[in-house]
Amino acid sequence: MTDTLLEIDRLSVDYETARGDLKALRDISFDIRKGEIVGIVGESGCGKSTLISSILRLTAPNTRFRQGEVRFKGQDLLQLPERKMRDLRGADISIVFQDPMQTHNPVLSIGQQMLDIQHRSKASKAEKRARAAQMLGAVGIPDPEARLDQFPHEFSGGMRQRIAIAMALMSEPDLLIADEPTTALDATLEVQIIERLQELQQEFNCAILFISHHLGVIAELCDRVVVMYAGAVVESGEVREIFHDPKHPYTRRLIDCDPGHIKERARVLPTIPGEVPDLANLPGGCIFRDRCDLATARCVEVPPLAKLKEGHHAACWLNHKEAAE
Ligand SMILES: Nc1ncnc2c1ncn2[C@@H]1O[C@H](COP(=O)(O)OP(=O)(O)OP(=O)(O)O)[C@@H](O)[C@H]1O
Ligand SMILES: [Mg+2]
Repeated sequence: MTDTLLEIDRLSVDYETARGDLKALRDISFDIRKGEIVGIVGESGCGKSTLISSILRLTAPNTRFRQGEVRFKGQDLLQLPERKMRDLRGADISIVFQDPMQTHNPVLSIGQQMLDIQHRSKASKAEKRARAAQMLGAVGIPDPEARLDQFPHEFSGGMRQRIAIAMALMSEPDLLIADEPTTALDATLEVQIIERLQELQQEFNCAILFISHHLGVIAELCDRVVVMYAGAVVESGEVREIFHDPKHPYTRRLIDCDPGHIKERARVLPTIPGEVPDLANLPGGCIFRDRCDLATARCVEVPPLAKLKEGHHAACWLNHKEAAE
């Protein structure tokens, strides 16, 4: 028996645009094991949301799957009939969005929405209500029974996000996908949500795919990290390895630029000079070459995502001995 839950295997996805095909995901491969928390980091526009919407097959109409498989419990989701995919979403795989208002219907009470989620269950209405209250309690909403009758706008932003997490967990999914669920919250609420997610993961033993450009949150929450740049995976590994011994210059720069990492008071926060390349007009060679201060002549060739040691991969020639001269 394998303990792999999700396998992204050489996934390439384009968006068709007037300027030609925009290569949003290129040859993405990584796994998530049962009960594991995997974080995805990368600058804005590097393809994080495209990856999630591709896994869930909730993509824009101009999306073209070019290559690869998304295997969930061994089954390629990209080949599944839409009806089966719909059954899977919200039952086996749940999602929490950045903006909880995307999840909540403003004209229905929270209790009603949580009853609706349980439409497949044979339990009585009273039992479903009790379960909804129990889940609200589990994410730290005080007096949950009474608050079931309130509407989304009657809760604070942090509470709404916690309710969204409660709703996503109601079906006890095997995989919870969270796309920047704490970005809209202040730092204190962010910490609370992260702690709660950790507790819930232990309780329900669900795997979590967590997207964020906040490295501190990833370091706190995740077991493993996948670093994406311009639609490709440039490094992946255990959280400790990635933060203490990053092997790709892009990962190093990301860590250096993280506000949580900067010890001295800085008037101007450091940024990585340059921009993510135009995905509709990709340059040849290493994708990070133009912004990398360690680039050499070798970098006109695309570096493979090479295994450096068990569980740690990076796509940079600097890690190849023959490139050292
Ligand atoms: N439907 C679409 N058609 C054309 N291009 C798109 C479409 N959706 C996204 N893109 C482009 O694809 C690239 C990847 O976008 P994506 O939203 O996946 O990035 P992201 O990493 O989630 O960014 P952010 O951190 O800002 O959320 C970007 O260049 C974006 O402009
Ligand atoms: Mg996004």
